[in-house]
Amino acid sequence: MTHPVAIRFVETELDDLAAREGRIAVLITPEGKLTAAARRLDRLTRGAVARAVGSPAWGKLKPGDGMVIGWPGGLAAEALVLISLPRKASLVDARKAGATVGKALDEKGALVIAENHPSAAEIAFGLALRAYRFDYLSEEKKPFGTVSVMVAHPEEVAAKAAPHAALAEGVFFTRDLVNEPANILTTDDFAARLAAMHELGLDVQILEEDELKDLGMRALLGVGQGSESPSKVVVMQWNGLSKPANGDAEEEPPLALVGKGVCFDTGGISIKPAAGMEEMTMDMGGAAVVAGVMRTLALRNAPVNVVGLVGLVENMPDGKAQRPGDIVKSMKGDTIEVINTDAEGRLVLADVLWYAQQRFRPRAVIDLATLTGAIIVALGHENAGVFANDDGFAQDVVQAARAEGEGAWHMPLQPAYDSLIKSRLADIKNTGGRWAGAITAAAFLNKFVKSETPWCHIDIAGVALPPGETTLAPKGASGWGVMTLDRLIRDKFEA
Ligand code: BES
Ligand code: MN
Ligand code: ZN
Repeated sequence: MTHPVAIRFVETELDDLAAREGRIAVLITPEGKLTAAARRLDRLTRGAVARAVGSPAWGKLKPGDGMVIGWPGGLAAEALVLISLPRKASLVDARKAGATVGKALDEKGALVIAENHPSAAEIAFGLALRAYRFDYLSEEKKPFGTVSVMVAHPEEVAAKAAPHAALAEGVFFTRDLVNEPANILTTDDFAARLAAMHELGLDVQILEEDELKDLGMRALLGVGQGSESPSKVVVMQWNGLSKPANGDAEEEPPLALVGKGVCFDTGGISIKPAAGMEEMTMDMGGAAVVAGVMRTLALRNAPVNVVGLVGLVENMPDGKAQRPGDIVKSMKGDTIEVINTDAEGRLVLADVLWYAQQRFRPRAVIDLATLTGAIIVALGHENAGVFANDDGFAQDVVQAARAEGEGAWHMPLQPAYDSLIKSRLADIKNTGGRWAGAITAAAFLNKFVKSETPWCHIDIAGVALPPGETTLAPKGASGWGVMTLDRLIRDKFEA
């Protein structure tokens, strides 16, 4: 597991700048107004800073972007990075400014001169998120050098940055889980990593196959029956609200987060083509986001009750595997005709969604899943698809995502689509044909949600593992959703 890079906030001290090694980054407004530190660097470099900022290229930079002066004369540093950022920067732009440094961070470390910029804590957070790395290279990489952020009031900024540490750890937990290959992150291994969060104060319970059988989760079990890895449901409870003093009073009902945890999706008997199949190690991305959010809530001791439930299975072709045409009975009691064994995520979620509602009577349910290729056709890798049985709830999620700089788009969910998943033999079938594939998947899930439960389904197939680097992550798992859900919980669910 990777850890966030350590960042120290230090007093602004401009006397030793010439001797400082590594990278030095300094913030300059888009209009080119030089701060005291920038003026000092300008003198040391004999006017290079003012010339760069006076060039036409400076005006073309977007907020948070940087201009690099390599091996600057007059400085021991290997690079001087001039970052364009207004004093009144948005949260997203400030994080991007930090990412501009985090992206190039190496064993030499970096000094970020933020002086009295009001967004210093956000800048540090962006730096930490972008400096994430994960690989299995046999040659070990050198650890990052130290990162210092020079500010006017270090204690104040450090206090502001403290909650970010919890958030960064949640995002990194999610990314690690998504990046792990399926021979390492088996259902057993995944469950063990979740059980370890007991140390953080989470109550973690692992339901094994025999219990799932007793509960009647035949839809979920059908998906995993061709695998050597046992299917599981893991329940993580965070009860951040103290029990009401009056012994008779009911405990505050929780928000339930439900995640699709398909540790590998071959498609099963409806097997996927070989090209690109290796990407299906990320098919537990929804469960990974749920796990990351639970980790953040525990680390920041959030005053809220949230329960996270993940269905962990592996979808394999085998003599024991489920076949197209099989009919299974869900925990709810509805029968499902399995037209295509590759539409397995909805079968897993059907049972976990129902179990979550039966056991916890939650005040709301949000599920996350790398559910359909169709959502990638619709939205590409820029936005997750947001479906809900309550438009206001969907808007809340979309707004939280926008505030955090994560893409999310409200998609339709209407009764008109239900006819596409009518089965000849069973109550419902698990595919709806070629058209509106992401919507018919959501319509399927809707059948397992009680109409009185506010519910939101987020299809993250396109955003969990984008094809290239993003502003706050290197190529690989993005951790999409941890920041959005943490904000949604803070703004809408905490008292
Ligand atoms: N895990 C896939 C969806 C997916 C595709 C995630 C690409 C990430 C990238 C899901 O289980 C799946 O196979 N869906 C099928 C459904 C179809 C058979 C109705 C799909 O989208 O093709
Ligand atoms: Mn599939
Ligand atoms: Zn899948």
